[in-house]
Amino acid sequence: KRRTAEPYKIKAVEPLNILTREERQKALEKSGYNTFLLDSEDVYIDLLTDSGTNAMSDQQWGALMVGDEAYAGSKSWYKLEKAVREVYGYKYVLPTHQGRGAENLLSQLKVKEGDYVPGNMYFTTTRAHQELNGGTFVDVVIDEAHDPDVEVDFKGNVDLNKLKTLIAEVGAESIPYVCVAVTVNMAGGQPVSMDNLRETYDLCQKHGIDVMYDATRCVENAYFIKEREQGYQNMPIKDILLEMFSYSDGCTMSGKKDALVNIGGFLAMNDEELYTRSRELVVVYEGMPSYGGMAGRDMEAMAKGIYESIDDHYIEHRIQQVRYLGEQLMDAGIPMVRPVGGHAVYLDAKAFLDHLDREQYPAQALAAALYLDSGVRAMERGIVSAGRNKETGENNIPKLEMVRLTIPRRVYTNNHMDVVADSVIELYRKRHQIKGLKMDYEPPTLRFFNARFSPK
Ligand code: F0G
Repeated sequence: KRRTAEPYKIKAVEPLNILTREERQKALEKSGYNTFLLDSEDVYIDLLTDSGTNAMSDQQWGALMVGDEAYAGSKSWYKLEKAVREVYGYKYVLPTHQGRGAENLLSQLKVKEGDYVPGNMYFTTTRAHQELNGGTFVDVVIDEAHDPDVEVDFKGNVDLNKLKTLIAEVGAESIPYVCVAVTVNMAGGQPVSMDNLRETYDLCQKHGIDVMYDATRCVENAYFIKEREQGYQNMPIKDILLEMFSYSDGCTMSGKKDALVNIGGFLAMNDEELYTRSRELVVVYEGMPSYGGMAGRDMEAMAKGIYESIDDHYIEHRIQQVRYLGEQLMDAGIPMVRPVGGHAVYLDAKAFLDHLDREQYPAQALAAALYLDSGVRAMERGIVSAGRNKETGENNIPKLEMVRLTIPRRVYTNNHMDVVADSVIELYRKRHQIKGLKMDYEPPTLRFFNARFSPK
């Protein structure tokens, strides 16, 4: 196969800091062994997240200058609204400062005390908003999603039987909507097939239940459909996206991922009544329905980013770069989630550090060890991220205990991926020297952001 390269060239560079091992050891202690608490100055290659860390294009930087900063009726808002309508296909759009702003509005408007909200695996902020409004999240993703070693093409699919069972048990009237994430972050960036989206929508329509997507990484999902699903090989990404969205009633969106910006998001829907109520609520939490917490220039940049994200060459390179890192690790026998997902490589920390038990936070410990070894910052996605059960107060113990190496869009080259691969492979060689951690400080909600640890 002929090799391909980045479908862009570099116009500005940002030099990186490279610390000594001793300096990194100090930084690690200062941050309580929590990579969320490291200063970015102390990080060499930052794979904490792909959220808001994307590189904007020259077109987007240019657009910042023409942002209309009017308090009401900004021209930039109309450009963003048009982009969302054209690319996502929804009738109504409300801007929010980021994805969780949209999740807050949606949960407040639709979730009541005692409701159940099914989803194809949880996401931290999404579930937090559902629970704050009295709802209970119910996982309806296929079983394979919880097993890092099972290789299936669409590991993010909704298990229709689980969904049917839930509907039969609690009744459609207790289910305000089904949240379908495309792709599924916590399963490893795994996609949902078009067939499954269609079937989920059909089932929900039969019961009068809305389907709301978490569209955060929808373009990456579309690429996997193009690559893996019969009948889509020759279809442009933009057409696949429109078909995906046609099987939903609305979405929440974090613009900080697939829309190629540093901040922003939106809530979109087809129902006029829900839109009217959202307009009333957006002014309480975000701002006028014509800016929703974003500056005019942010909306300008996001409108451009949305169009850039559906470029077929861009998205192909994006997915291939993540796979480039993943395949090096797989070839070296590193335990990881397979197949490689859309935005990140997920190391299986439970298998990597099989001498530690879960209460020693293997993923947290591995992320800390990786930083110490090479200055690469990753993120824990395991028992710490999963928090505690809201009724029993016990630790939620997810099957997956992972370290996420998340690749920002258009930021690093494949040489950076090589440095990351070398470090992970070296750590795997000396994995038995890596010690577990204990938690010294535990915040009550979303504890992973601020928790502090020390070696056990
Ligand atoms: N949904 C998914 C699937 C996400 O991955 C995120 C954010 C959100 C919703 C919330 O969006 O951050 O704009 O408020 N994920 C980031 C991450 C934080 O690192 O995975 P937000």
